Amino acid sequence: MKLRPMPGKTSLKGKHVLLRVDWNLPLEGPFAPEDSLKLDRSHATIDWLSRSGAVAILLTHVGRPKGRDLRFSTEKLARLAHRATDIPIHFLGANLGASAGIHEAKKTIEHAKPGTVFLCENVRFLKGEETNAPSTAKTLASLGDLFVNDAFASCHRAHASVVGIAKFLPSFAGPSLVEEVHGLERLIAKPKRPFVAVIGGAKLSTKIGVLKSLLDTADRVLVGGAMAHAFFKAMRMEIGRSFLEKESVTMAKTLLKHPKLVLPRDVLVATALKSGVPARSVPIAKVRKTDVIGDIGTETMMAWAKELKTAKTIMWNGPVGVAEIPTFAHGSLLLARVIAARSKGPTYGVIGGGDTLPIVMQSGMSEWVDHLSTGGGAMLEFLALKGELPGLIALEEKKTRAASKKKKV
Ligand code: 3PG
Repeated sequence: MKLRPMPGKTSLKGKHVLLRVDWNLPLEGPFAPEDSLKLDRSHATIDWLSRSGAVAILLTHVGRPKGRDLRFSTEKLARLAHRATDIPIHFLGANLGASAGIHEAKKTIEHAKPGTVFLCENVRFLKGEETNAPSTAKTLASLGDLFVNDAFASCHRAHASVVGIAKFLPSFAGPSLVEEVHGLERLIAKPKRPFVAVIGGAKLSTKIGVLKSLLDTADRVLVGGAMAHAFFKAMRMEIGRSFLEKESVTMAKTLLKHPKLVLPRDVLVATALKSGVPARSVPIAKVRKTDVIGDIGTETMMAWAKELKTAKTIMWNGPVGVAEIPTFAHGSLLLARVIAARSKGPTYGVIGGGDTLPIVMQSGMSEWVDHLSTGGGAMLEFLALKGELPGLIALEEKKTRAASKKKKV
């Protein structure tokens, strides 16, 4: 996919640039390393705009507020981001849902010196944001001369500040968005083989799209975490008191015989998912009614590490155990270390997902991974839809799209 890149420095001078970032971060701070990653990725773009003499007007959502719920205000975020990036970020609190607020915001932007950076109030406070109402997109667009989307993690959302706004302004892909797309495209366009994917997490229903797509494109798909329990159940195995998303068992049944699907052969069980409880690694057939599964077992760890060592492309999304509890974090930490050790060499390694990045950061080896994706849902949908995310389509060079459509016919 060829995205329109940001214009050069000279054409940005004096321009009011609406920059969509994904700062869907904890509002209490301090930021964890995985949160700082999102800020770091935006930092270079903001810095570039500011040095170009543009006025940057940042747009982000935070959380899933129902209307103008000030507990989700970006005001604190402006302060936290200022502290973390060392770039003065001014909070623009005007209510963009009211004409007086729009007027006020325009006046403030109009009087701003070149290089000023503003952060608008949470875009999800706006009524038509999530429905992508043209009037909301038009209002947002009226604040700037051009639009830059640098928010990969939001590109699966067809919202006004992601998609709609691009209809009203010259629109471009920011550098970190381009980096994300390039990083993930290598998984869908002729990946070096063998391509081994690891998918974990709690619910199969949230990953079924990506799982099916990976069973199609990868050579082996290793499935761990509580979503594997649905497969065990489909095999009529005992999972004791472990978490089970009941409605996904039927789904699991349909994939059970897939030749590329690899399930854990043993698991780490305990009587409770608590730190420090005695845990044992047992074959799946030996799980007792009183057990809870907390991680992949030691044999699986060895087998999967071996599998990953032979791979030329690796993708991992989702913890394979209850990684926030140290007793059950070994499998996920091992994956992080093995993938990092193989990456940036003959193997291309990608890791992503909101619950997965903290584990990579904890492993201390994050810088060795070829690409860390800041997209949770966006990464999964990018892989499931082979790159066709609404936010990306809105920024695609028209010619390429028309040409590739013709080709498909
Ligand atoms: C994310 O954190 O994955 C993105 O910001 C998307 O958030 P959402 O799922 O609330 O749209």
